[in-house]
Amino acid sequence: MNPTEQQRPIDVLILAAGLGTRMKSQKAKVLHELGGRPMITHVVRQALSLNPERIYVVVGHQAAEVEAAVRNELGDKADLAEFVIQSQQRGTGDAVKAASDKLQHADRTLLVLSGDVPLVRAETLRKLVAHHLAGQAACSILTVKLENPAGYGRMVCDEKGGFVKIVEQKDATPEEKQIREINSGIYCFETAKLFAALEQVEPTNQQAEYYLTDVPAILLAGGARIAIYIHTDAREVSGINTRADLAEFENLLRRGTIRTLMSEGVTFIDPSHSYIGTDARIGRDCVIYPDVHIEGRTMIGEGCVIRSGSRITNAKIGDSVEIKDHCVIIDSQIESNCSVGPFAHLRMNACLEEGSAVGNFVEVKKSRLGRGSKSMHLTYLGDATIGERTNIGAGTVTCNYDGKNKNETVIGDNVKIGSDTMLVAPVKVGSGSVTAAGSVVISDVPPDSLVAGVPAVVKKKLKTVMNNEQ
Ligand code: UD1
Ligand code: CA
Repeated sequence: MNPTEQQRPIDVLILAAGLGTRMKSQKAKVLHELGGRPMITHVVRQALSLNPERIYVVVGHQAAEVEAAVRNELGDKADLAEFVIQSQQRGTGDAVKAASDKLQHADRTLLVLSGDVPLVRAETLRKLVAHHLAGQAACSILTVKLENPAGYGRMVCDEKGGFVKIVEQKDATPEEKQIREINSGIYCFETAKLFAALEQVEPTNQQAEYYLTDVPAILLAGGARIAIYIHTDAREVSGINTRADLAEFENLLRRGTIRTLMSEGVTFIDPSHSYIGTDARIGRDCVIYPDVHIEGRTMIGEGCVIRSGSRITNAKIGDSVEIKDHCVIIDSQIESNCSVGPFAHLRMNACLEEGSAVGNFVEVKKSRLGRGSKSMHLTYLGDATIGERTNIGAGTVTCNYDGKNKNETVIGDNVKIGSDTMLVAPVKVGSGSVTAAGSVVISDVPPDSLVAGVPAVVKKKLKTVMNNEQ
């Protein structure tokens, strides 16, 4: 951190109360997902890395959901956040004013961000803060020059390039509309001065709103210094206002994520048809086929192959794992050297231990498959714990639900479950046992036994048979 930052602690205020009319949605704009998480969480994450004293979030539309998204992003730092309600959305100036009880007399610096400008990087914000402090300004505005400035507030400056005012698109004269330098909606303010100036903002404009963008000109008229920080990366500070913007940003973010992963040693067969969330981690020499979705906090080790059509969400995968085509893997763990699919479904803490395999049309829910065990065809394993080197035959079902409760199945090591076995839980199958094809197992099977029939009964003790043979 640079020394000026340490000298003067900053607060962050994020505007996130608007519905986002142009999204044509029931859902508040800042909750729409980008890179697999709500838009606002991108802003919160960058803000957090500046080590602010507090993060104020102005909420209105779907306040509870927005608050939950912010808290979730902050995790154990959720205490840093304070939420202020703007009950009626009367403009960005009114939104900031909603925090006046908490901030109006504060002798500190306030970084104002928009919940709908999600790609901004902490490094850029840091530069704005440094520029602001170095220039001893009352307000510093982050601006950018655009080929097509339509929709943004324009920066009106005098002949010497000094700040005059910000004029919104809807209020701009034809000449002002020609101005290419725009207000990014990201500012640094001396807090007490900001709140004093807000008292003078009037809704005398096309939209009859209280504009935060009127504050810099008010401060200037009062003799304060206004600084401008011109940024060069227009994309980074662009706002999302429409679904088209959202899709464009999603694409941008995804391309960046994949480019980084490729530079770190991951092969993508077709980068433009791969969908990798910003929080996913993928190890070297993995090969990702087209139409793969890797979401949430997924971590994949080295040398894995993920075939087409698979969706992997919040999973932990070891090294040299092969995920064949069209698998859905959610909240689950796969240790090294396993093979999954095609068409397998792992969910709710499914765990495949080292070197195990599940194959076609196998669903594994809240179950553990031991080292080297296999379940290759048409099977449901729910609430089951399976030992090592056990084979689950085709068409096996753990009948885990009795209509009221979910019951457990426990299968030992070196077991052979015959095709089409129904394991009516709660039930245990001892190590070394065999169930014959079509068995309906309703009571515990002792170790080293062969059971068969409906309901299944012990036909012989396998250890004895082996002893006779010797
Ligand atoms: C705003 C700026 C514009 C700038 C642009 C950059 C104003 C008046 N205009 O315009 O100069 O170029 O951002 O992206 O500030 N919000 C509230 N409460 C409200 C209104 C808005 O919390 O009453 C929040 C929104 O949820 C959003 C942010 O403020 O996160 C910006 O509002 P938006 O309506 O998108 O402003 P723009 O028209 O984009
Ligand atoms: Ca906007």
